[in-house]
Order: sequence, then C-alpha cells, then structure tokens
Amino acid sequence: MSAHILTGKPVLVTGGAGFIGSQLVSDLMEVGADVVVIDNESRGSKANLENVGFDIRVNKNYFKIDLRDPESQRYFQNFHTVYHLAADVGGIAYALSQGIKIWRNNTLIDANVFDAVLEYEVPNLVYASSSCVYPLQLSSPQIGLKEGQAWQGEMHTLYGAEKLLGEKAIQMHLNGSSTTNTAIVRFHNVYGPRSIMKGRDSQVIQALIYRALNYPEKDLEVWGSGRQGRDFIYVSDITHWLVNLWLPDTQKFYDQPLQRGSGINTTIREVAQQIHSLVGLESNINYVPVPDEGERGRKSDNSTFNALYSHLPTPLPIEEGLRRYLNWAIKHESWWREATAEVNHLLQKSPTELIAVI
Ligand SMILES: NC(=O)c1ccc[n+]([C@@H]2O[C@H](COP(=O)([O-])OP(=O)(O)OC[C@H]3O[C@@H](n4cnc5c(N)ncnc54)[C@H](O)[C@@H]3O)[C@@H](O)[C@H]2O)c1
Repeated sequence: MSAHILTGKPVLVTGGAGFIGSQLVSDLMEVGADVVVIDNESRGSKANLENVGFDIRVNKNYFKIDLRDPESQRYFQNFHTVYHLAADVGGIAYALSQGIKIWRNNTLIDANVFDAVLEYEVPNLVYASSSCVYPLQLSSPQIGLKEGQAWQGEMHTLYGAEKLLGEKAIQMHLNGSSTTNTAIVRFHNVYGPRSIMKGRDSQVIQALIYRALNYPEKDLEVWGSGRQGRDFIYVSDITHWLVNLWLPDTQKFYDQPLQRGSGINTTIREVAQQIHSLVGLESNINYVPVPDEGERGRKSDNSTFNALYSHLPTPLPIEEGLRRYLNWAIKHESWWREATAEVNHLLQKSPTELIAVI
C-alpha cells in the first residue's frame, strides 16, 4: 500500500489545541504526518491534545503563540501543509454581541497567516471557513445552499470586500448606539488637488495629468482600451457634502449607506482626450493593452442622494473639474514634477501663460 501524501511531511495546524483542530491533529498523526501546533489557548487547551495522544514538546512541536502578532509569521517556515483553523470563535450570542472584536482578531490572524504562507512559499494551505458566509435571506430549511451563493455578486477587489465588511460592522454594532451617530458614505472616484500623482499608486486622472505634464513630447499613454468608465467626482463636491451631512429637518445622519458620485459614467478615453486638449499636447494618445481592465463601467444612481440633499449644489461637470485641477497642478509643481523628466515645454512658460493654455 502506498504511503499517504502527508506521511513524514511537516504539517502545521493553527488552532490545533481547539475542538476541530485537536481531532485533526489526531487524524494527521494516524497517517504519519509530522505535526506542529500553534495555538494561543484562548479557547483551546493542551489537554485536548493530550487526550488524542499528541506528545507535546513545548517550543518543538507545540507553540503557544498569538497569531494576531506579525512576529508569529516566522513560525511558518518549511511546512508542506498549513491547516489554518485558528480563529476567534464562539456561539451565536458571542458572534452577535462581539462582532467587532471577532472581526479584528480574525482579520489580524488571517492576514498574518496568509502573509506568512506567501513569504515562505508554503505549498499547501487549508483555510477553515464557515457556512456563516451565506446571506441571511437565503437561509431555508427546504432549499440547500450552493457554494456560489456566498456573495450575491462577485467582488472585483479585496479592498471592496473589506469596505463591505466595515459597513456591516457599523450596521450591526454601532447603528442604534446611544453614543454614536453613524453615517456610511460611499464615494465614487474622487479626483482633484492634493491626491497622489506620482508613482504606480495614483488613480487614473491623476496619473494621466502627471504623464501629460511631465512628458508632453511623448504619446499620452492610457492603460487599457480606454473604454472602461467610472463615475468621477470632484473632491470639493465630496467634502462639501461631508461638512453638510446632517439632514436639515432632523439634524441627524441618514441611517443607511449613501453613495456620492456625479451620476455619469465617463470613459477613460474621454478623460484622456480632455486632458490632452486642456494641456495642449501635440502628441498622440496611445492605448496600451493590459490583462485586466477592471469593471467596464460604473455610475451612481443619485435618486436617494437628491431626495435627501436637494439643497446642496449639483456636482461639478468633469470638464470644469479637470480644468480646476489642472490649474491647481500648474501652480503646485512639486506635486507632479518628475526629477528626471525631459525638458518640459510647459515648464518653460510662465504660470500666466500656462493658465492661459488650459
Ligand atoms: N465548530 C464549528 O461548527 C465551525 C463551523 C464553521 C467554521 N468553523 C471554523 O473552524 C475553525 C476551528 O473551529 P473550532 O470549532 O475548532 O473552534 P475552537 O475555538 O475550538 O478552535 C479555534 C482555536 O484557535 C485558537 N485561537 C484563537 N485565537 C487565536 C490566536 N489569536 N492565535 C492562535 N490561536 C488562536 C483557539 O485557542 C482555539 O484553540 C475556526 O476557524 C472556525 O471558524 C468551525
């Protein structure tokens, strides 16, 4: 009979002193795996492991470590498989009352474990998730849940998924609190003065203006087909709303998540063309293929916003926003000036001439 895949292999079980973990350790020992356990004993205990015959050698095959601590990552070296079961777990009453604590603990634990697995190139990771990922409204004694129903729509980024969880944390644990008034404000793509323009992390409008100003002789490079669209909103439209967030009739916040966008999907192609013409470039616009262009388009439905905040001004049209932003950029060269940039014909002009250009 051939050996089990884990026979003789180094295997780490996080949360191995817990309920499921200790049983898993027992089963792993049975196939001859070389098992190591990490647990902080917040719920688990060494007794669980002794009960299944695991010979605890402290700091050799058993480590009492808190996985919320990034230092714990160094314990993940040289494993064939990591079974990641450690989590802040409890019954439904605990889950409902201690949501923020659980979220913080488990986010920290998971982030450290995933970082460590990437860092040490662990070949196999098993992550204990939960049927709690399914939406409440799908719960039914009659109809079985399918794996694909966990998200009602697929997320494009973990950034978005985490924001959704942040909203949920507020709705489930802070809304209704007698001491805290909460507003969940969802911004679409915000642009304008003082956002980062240099480097790979800058957003599309900022990046295009950066390239246009630093390299006016070169083709203006747009990543992707330019057909992807976004709802762009000028920064002061957001900040003005934030300082006037209290509803005039109640002096309270709206109690549901509320988005702020222009209500218009503008393609990157349109943005690039406007920047090209505002800066007065004579080069071409060059669309560079990329593997993932992200969402095709996005815009805000402003009907709820308009009903609640009809007293606030309508958003600045993008043409005007870009004009203002460029005006600001030209007066604040340090925000975008590339030290090694080629001689920039715009910089040879006086600020007055430049403002005339745009
Ligand atoms: N028991 C269930 O019905 C069930 C259902 C779905 C998912 N799960 C998941 O299975 C896994 C194991 O659950 P369980 O029922 O055995 O729970 P458990 O509480 O018995 O086991 C979790 C273990 O993780 C340890 N732990 C918690 N925080 C830690 C930290 N910061 N650092 C290191 N160790 C830490 C605890 O001490 C405990 O031993 C969890 O990820 C849980 O979310 C369990």
